[in-house]
Amino acid sequence: MNKATRKAVIAGNWKMNMTPSQTTALIEEMKPLVASADCEVVLCVPFVDIAAAIEAAKGSNIKIGAENVHFKASGAFTGEISADMLKETGVEYVVVGHSERRQYFGETDQTVNLRSLAAIKAGLKPIICVGETLEQRELGYTETLLKYQTKMALTNVSAEELKNVVIAYEPVWAIGTGVTATADQADEGNGYVRAAIAEAYGADVAETVTIQYGGSMNAGNAAELVSKVNVDGGLIGGASLKAADFSVIVKAASEQK
Ligand code: 13P
Repeated sequence: MNKATRKAVIAGNWKMNMTPSQTTALIEEMKPLVASADCEVVLCVPFVDIAAAIEAAKGSNIKIGAENVHFKASGAFTGEISADMLKETGVEYVVVGHSERRQYFGETDQTVNLRSLAAIKAGLKPIICVGETLEQRELGYTETLLKYQTKMALTNVSAEELKNVVIAYEPVWAIGTGVTATADQADEGNGYVRAAIAEAYGADVAETVTIQYGGSMNAGNAAELVSKVNVDGGLIGGASLKAADFSVIVKAASEQK
């Protein structure tokens, strides 16, 4: 398997945006625009929007995901949502370890791993985020850090289970800043992630894993980013809130096939 045969996944991460009624309206607008996609199309939405998103996406090629999942199966964890709860709503994907959760909500490499394992066990596909800060990049730690985060996140994940895992390389300095990594930087970062997977599982397995780029990906730069050999789609924040922009990104990934 290689770039041509790996599954490209374009996933929106709506973050803390959109009410349920806005969710319905946006997905209705997106549906016809992405109907002929030749890649996986996913929208990861706030928990309270999931029901509306699933209803609106019914019969279309849009898959729905959540933005986080707790690692315990149940219990006294006020405000948290378990993997089984998510599974029953009908979501297929869940974002795990986004840098905003690492930065603002105390997420660690260990909890990212536990959440990923919980998602996998419940039959959800985690989109696991890794990425360096600007300071870490400037100190020359990018490769070491990406490999460490990747291996930590995948602890106790089997090669078989890895088939249902997506990794997103999201340089923290490129998120929501309008500063996109260059296509070569994205390819290099994704390459480090793939190399880490190769070290842990072997090169053949690493070649099969979908690795997205995320960070200010938009309608103008998506085609170049997804053309890179290690970039199998994208995790898109701001541009996934606009149907026209998101559909251009989906089209760019589809044409890479
Ligand atoms: P932006 O596309 O808004 O930079 O966000 C990227 C991101 O964090 C996706 O998870």
